[in-house]
Amino acid sequence: MVIWQAERPLYLLFINCSNNKPGNPTTPMLNHLNRSFAVYIFSYLLVSAVHGQQQRAPSAHTLRDRFRDDFMIGTAVNARQVQERIPMETQLLATQFNAITPENVMKAQSLQPRWNSFNFEQADQLIEFSKKYHMNVNAHTLIWHSQLPRFVRSLQTADSLKLFMSNHINTVAGRYYGKVQSWDVVNEALNEDGTLRKSVFYDKLGENYIIEAFRLAQAATPGTDLYYNDYNNEKPAKRAGCIEIIKKIQAAGVKIDGVGIQGHWHLGQLPIKDIEESILQYAALGLKVAITELDIEVLKRNFQGAEISQRMNSDPSLDPYKESLPDSIQQRLAEDYDALFKLFVKHKDKIARVTFWGVHDGQSWLNGWPVAGRTNYPLLFDRQYRPKPAFYKVIDSE
Ligand code: XIL
Repeated sequence: MVIWQAERPLYLLFINCSNNKPGNPTTPMLNHLNRSFAVYIFSYLLVSAVHGQQQRAPSAHTLRDRFRDDFMIGTAVNARQVQERIPMETQLLATQFNAITPENVMKAQSLQPRWNSFNFEQADQLIEFSKKYHMNVNAHTLIWHSQLPRFVRSLQTADSLKLFMSNHINTVAGRYYGKVQSWDVVNEALNEDGTLRKSVFYDKLGENYIIEAFRLAQAATPGTDLYYNDYNNEKPAKRAGCIEIIKKIQAAGVKIDGVGIQGHWHLGQLPIKDIEESILQYAALGLKVAITELDIEVLKRNFQGAEISQRMNSDPSLDPYKESLPDSIQQRLAEDYDALFKLFVKHKDKIARVTFWGVHDGQSWLNGWPVAGRTNYPLLFDRQYRPKPAFYKVIDSE
């Protein structure tokens, strides 16, 4: 009962531990953590009592429970997280999310570093992790111009690139058949104006490489949801290009199940109207929509999008919140997340999943890109694995 006076982060952790039932996959880990939580909880109770805070009960205490009837809640995970190095981080992952996406370990560079030489160790570990915690796996990604093994760029002929594509898709999608719920078959094939990016695949194989990739994936992993994934494909010009790709795949009689809107957005600049229009237009093509890499960047940069080869020089003025995030910005972040989730819930019949690009701020790729070594705050949990105001806004919204 006294729990209700505690700050809510604590409430969450405590309830998660005490509600643990035998058979619940998180039980041993949580029992192991109980003692340290007790100390943590006690200090929070003390602080709360001193400040006389009154907190109302949250409507749900985890993201996955809050949105259980609406859509899956996913997160990108890295190799270290899959190895469960930090118990508190594992606890957060296992209790808040019901889907995971490999942040890097299922990219071609990781899986096939040399021609026809595959390394499945970390990807297999991720599959085991997903089984242990009963999570879906949304695999990422088969064909992408970035994080490609070096040998692919030196292939001289269209035939050899075709061979790489079919061997890679057959081997990788075939191995994880029945173990993953979806694949991002092609990632980031579009320019901002909706034309096709002049990638190594486009240059050697022409525009039909996209249809071919889906055809190969359909054969290698039948029944798995196949997605086209991109950033900024909620913006009208790029969206039009995306729709063209989808229609061509469909016209060729090849299966495509969904479109991923990555969702790397910026504080105070959410393109809410464009996002809503995109959800409606993609769904009208008979596709599922997923938000696949959600984060909201609070730091400045001079371009938008998520082309990972685009970088900026570091400069202290670009990294103003080294110690902590000012409350005013924390609140704006909460409001932005609130607006987004209200939109997602409004269209829950069209949205299959919302996946964050990382569990907590400390893990975010935005600490290192496009400027190295910054302190960014784009997610719902902070570096100490505590829920941020944005978390409560999202979880408490009607
Ligand atoms: C990023 C990872 O988060 C980083 O760890 C890695 O260094 C580069 O790639 N769009 C995508 C993701 O589709 O795969 C990218 O992930 C972020 C942009």
